[in-house]
This record gives sequence, C-alpha cells and structure tokens, in this order.
Amino acid sequence: MNEFGDSIVNPSANRTFDDVLLSRRNLIKGGLGAWAMSMVGTVAALNASSNDKSAFSFASVPVSTQDRVVVPPGYEVDLVIAWGDPINGTSPTFKTDASNTAAEQALQAGMHHDGMHFFAERDRSDRGVLVMNHEYADDGLLHTQGMRVWTAEQVAKSQAAHGVSVLSIERVQGRWTITPSPYMRRITASTPIRISGPASAHALMRTAADPRGTTALGTFNNCANGHTPWGTYLACEENFNGYFVNASLSIPKDQARYGITKDGFGYRWHEHDARFDAREHPNEPNRFGWVVEIDPFNPASPPVKRTALGRFKHEGATVTLARDGRVVVYMGDDERNEYIYKFVSARPFDARDPNANRDLLDDGTLYVARFEADGDGQWRALTFGRDGLVPEAGFNDQAEVLIKARLAADVLGATKMDRPEWIAVHPQSREVYVSLTNNSQRGTRSAVDAANPRENNVFGHIVRWNEANNDPAALTFSWNVFILGGNPMQADASKRGTIRGDAFGSPDGLSFDSAGTLWIQTDVSTTTLDKGDYAGLGNNQMLAADTKTGETRRFLVGPRGCEITGVTWTPDRTAMFINVQHPGETPNERSDPAHPTAISDWPHVQFPRSPAGRPRSATVVIRRGDGGPING
Ligand code: FEO
Ligand code: CA
Ligand code: CA
Ligand code: CA
Repeated sequence: MNEFGDSIVNPSANRTFDDVLLSRRNLIKGGLGAWAMSMVGTVAALNASSNDKSAFSFASVPVSTQDRVVVPPGYEVDLVIAWGDPINGTSPTFKTDASNTAAEQALQAGMHHDGMHFFAERDRSDRGVLVMNHEYADDGLLHTQGMRVWTAEQVAKSQAAHGVSVLSIERVQGRWTITPSPYMRRITASTPIRISGPASAHALMRTAADPRGTTALGTFNNCANGHTPWGTYLACEENFNGYFVNASLSIPKDQARYGITKDGFGYRWHEHDARFDAREHPNEPNRFGWVVEIDPFNPASPPVKRTALGRFKHEGATVTLARDGRVVVYMGDDERNEYIYKFVSARPFDARDPNANRDLLDDGTLYVARFEADGDGQWRALTFGRDGLVPEAGFNDQAEVLIKARLAADVLGATKMDRPEWIAVHPQSREVYVSLTNNSQRGTRSAVDAANPRENNVFGHIVRWNEANNDPAALTFSWNVFILGGNPMQADASKRGTIRGDAFGSPDGLSFDSAGTLWIQTDVSTTTLDKGDYAGLGNNQMLAADTKTGETRRFLVGPRGCEITGVTWTPDRTAMFINVQHPGETPNERSDPAHPTAISDWPHVQFPRSPAGRPRSATVVIRRGDGGPING
C-alpha cells in the first residue's frame, strides 16, 4: 500500500485486538488459561518439531541493501514485465524520460504492480494468462516534469497507469515472455465497470453521469487480489478515498468514516476530472471500495463490481469453498483499527456448469469477525433489519448496509485489528492466516506485560484461525497468534517478537503454495526501511514459513526502496512470479523528477535490457537452475 492511507478513521468504541490480547494476559495471571495453553502449545510444537525434516530446501538469503533482487543459491531470477512495457505486439515502447502519452500508457503495463494471478491455459505450466493489479502511481516518476505542471493529459495518464493488466505469458526457449494474444487488455481508472449485486442501481450509487447507478468508470488502488474456482480474477479496491477531495467545512459522516478529506492523498485528479470532487458528486465515492471480478479469458466481458462483498478498503479477496460447496471469500480492510470480513454465497459452486457460477458473488451473506479473549471467535452477519442494522441507525435496506459496511460493522461490535492485509487459506487443513502489518498508533496503554503485543506494534503479526467443524461457512472459530514480527537482535524485548528463524516485520502479502508452504512478503514503509526499529533488516523481503513450527526462512530480498508483493505459481511450481513494487520510492512517496534514480535504478542495474534512468515496478520470475519446483 501507500502510506498516505495509513490513518485511523474508526471512531467506534469497539474493542481493539490489543484489548483482546490484554484480557488474555489476565487469564494467564489467573492460571493456565486458554491463551496460555495456546501459547504453550505453540512453543511445544516448536520444540517437538526441531528434529523433524526441514520444510525448506533452500538456503536462507542474507539481509540485503543492494539494488537488486537476491535469491538463494541454485535459483535464478528474470525480468518479465515492467511499468510502461508494451502489453502486445502493437503497443508503444516505454520511453525512459516518461514522455509516453496517456493514450500510450493505456496500452502499456501500468505502474506499481501488486496482487497477481497466473491462470494456466489448459493446466499447462508453460503458458497462461497473467493478471495483475497496478495499485497506484508515483506522479513524480510518471511524467517528465513530475507534478510541476498539472494538466488534464497528466490526469489521464495517471488514470491509465492504474487498474489491471491482463497479459499472456509463455515460456519460450527457457525464458518467460509476454506474448500477444486475444486475451490481452488493460483495465484502467476510466474503463466502464458494471455494478452488480444488492447495491446496483441504489439511490446512493447514482450520479449525474450515471443516473441509473449501474456503471462506474474505472477501478483504482487495486491492492491484493483473489481468484475463483470458476477461473475469474478478483481485483480489490483499497485506498480509493485518497483520490477524492471534499472541501466542505463539515465532511459527511459516511465519507469521513471512509477517510475522505479536504486534500485527499494529493493525486489531484479532481482538478481535471470533476467526479473526484466529493462535495459536488457525493455519491461518486460510493462506487469505489469494492471487489471487482474480471474474466481473463473473455476480453469482451466488462469487469463487475460485486457489491454483496461490501464496501471498505479491500486488501484482498481469498476464495475457498464451504463443505457444502458455497463460496467463501475472506477479506481484510486495511487501515488501522479496521476489521476482517468474510462473504458466504447463497448458492454452491457448480464445477460442471460454468454458467451457473457467473453471478455467485451477487447473492450471499457478509460477516465481520469478532475475536474473543478466550481464543474463540464469531462471525456476525451484516444483515439489514437485524442486530441494530435498522433505519434508526442509518440503514434503510441491505444495499445501504453494504455501501456503509464499516459503519454496520461498528454497530455489530467487530474487533479492531492492526491493519488487516492479505488472508491465506491452507490448501489442505483450511486453517486461515491473516497478516496484520503494523499499528504504531494504538496509543499508550496501562497493564502491558512482556508476553504479549504491543501497544506500539511496529513489526506487525500474523494471526490464524480454524473455523468450527473445519467448515469455512461456520459462524464461529478458534484462533491464536502464529508469529509476532520483530527482530531478535532488539534490546527491547517487546520488539523481538516470536521470530524463529529469519527476522521480519510489516508482513503484508501472504499466500500458500500448493504444497502448503506459507509465503510472507513485507511492506516496511520507505520512511522506516533499514532505520530505527528496522535497522539491520535491509530492503523489503519474502520469506517462507513452516506453519507446523513457526520457522521462517528468507527466500528473496528486493531492490532499494521497493515493496515485495503479489505471488503466483505455474501449476507445477517450477516458476514463481512476484512483483517488485515501487523500487526507488522516496520517503514522501513522490519522486523528484529531476533525480528519478536518487535511490534506485532497478531493474536496469540488474537487467541491462531495461533502459537506465528511471526505476520501474516490475514482475520477475524465479526458477530453479535445475528446473525443479520452487522449494521442492
Ligand atoms: Fe495496498 Fe494494504 O496494502
Ligand atoms: Ca508500499
Ligand atoms: Ca501494506
Ligand atoms: Ca498490500
């Protein structure tokens, strides 16, 4: 994510996750409570398994501050597609002085690659469709003069640098290459997107340009992603609020709850595209903050905003199936003190009839998580007319509950979390893991003890849960803390975490491979990277974790100023694609156009075929030198 969105807008009195942890500490004082048992269980598992065969077949990569992607011995890394690269044979080529026009940018890969999925063609491991998000843009790098001048053409280029790329990719003579195909398309911040589900056509979704409330223009700030069993891609709209401004002296409560402010995050789209003025167009922000479904193999199909999944700052959308085949989607709302949600479809997935699955995400129940102190948890339904979601509380129908999902979740007493990012479901056990990246602004609390997190959670942690009866559709679950991020070299014990193996903090990307190894990608903000509490931890990185033992091993370190995010594999796991987002990012997240390479000139420094002079987000592929599976 970009840290412009790293704020608190939750005014509710709901308990924070730290409150829950604090009550767990009280249990320990009174004896061996459930929390103590869970912690002891974890430690026992760590000790018992220390003689087991290692879950890792690669050597740990050291911390690095080099301007390159570092992988273990025996592995190789190659560049696949960088910001501005053509997406098909007729696209314009990238100009390293950033002089490509908006129209050209719309035919090139977008900026700031993020979540991504490889859709194999007929289960092949040498050819498929690669779909990826372009989360946001650094306008200091995107335009030759940065933001020194600000024109409608620049706004159009910024909008074209956002969104999603659908690419065809093939292994040709050993090298993964983008190849022209009928599937290739760009979806940008101005592409027509159908609004579907309960909020479609609702009065709160209607605007001057779209009086029916059924078609939004574009998707943006697409962070992490999901993919469905019926072969579609889910792009998630995260910090959409930052593109809007509202100069009213008093910003409406509903907009304020979603973080809309007078200035936004400085994208300045409203200066040339009036719909981003939320005072003049108060319903336009209601059309963002959704999960967008894209059919990668049907380029004529419009993307669809699935409003049944609720409106918030969606990090990702991780799909699994309930025991009865209903579709379950786990979702984090990434902001300090926000919530974890899940959607359960009304109808089951039908593996034999692809058409029957087309609108499965339009009908179902949205739940929000409440973590109890005793290690239990509950899913509370965001259902109109129940549990206080009534007109007197500001909810007049189910559509309004979904449009104002954050406010509905406040009413339901959901648990405030330390910025929920990606959620991953273990492919065999169906245990669910969520990264809580950090939260340095919990505020001072009394009664903190050394055994538990952390009023100043600078390193973040990973929580996991098991649904009741191992059924993802269950209404209750049991949970514990998997790892507290930190650095064992820290003098302050509260900052050491429960690291066993290689140290990390600010976990963000979280994915299981098909063998059940958990992969963790870090997003330490550029202001903090390798400094202060993070001194000695180098550039952002990717680690593998053994969920049985809690051991972590560093697999990859990125170039300077980047975040590592997005991961996907070929079915045979011989190729792993990851994204290097915003190499060379400056602490204020907008580069100085006079000095674009002040921090990094990656990928050029590692892959000279990429031109020098401007750092670029890029997808890379990692393979084993002997062609075997990654960590196989
Ligand atoms: Fe876009 Fe929450 O990271
Ligand atoms: Ca980032
Ligand atoms: Ca993040
Ligand atoms: Ca993220």
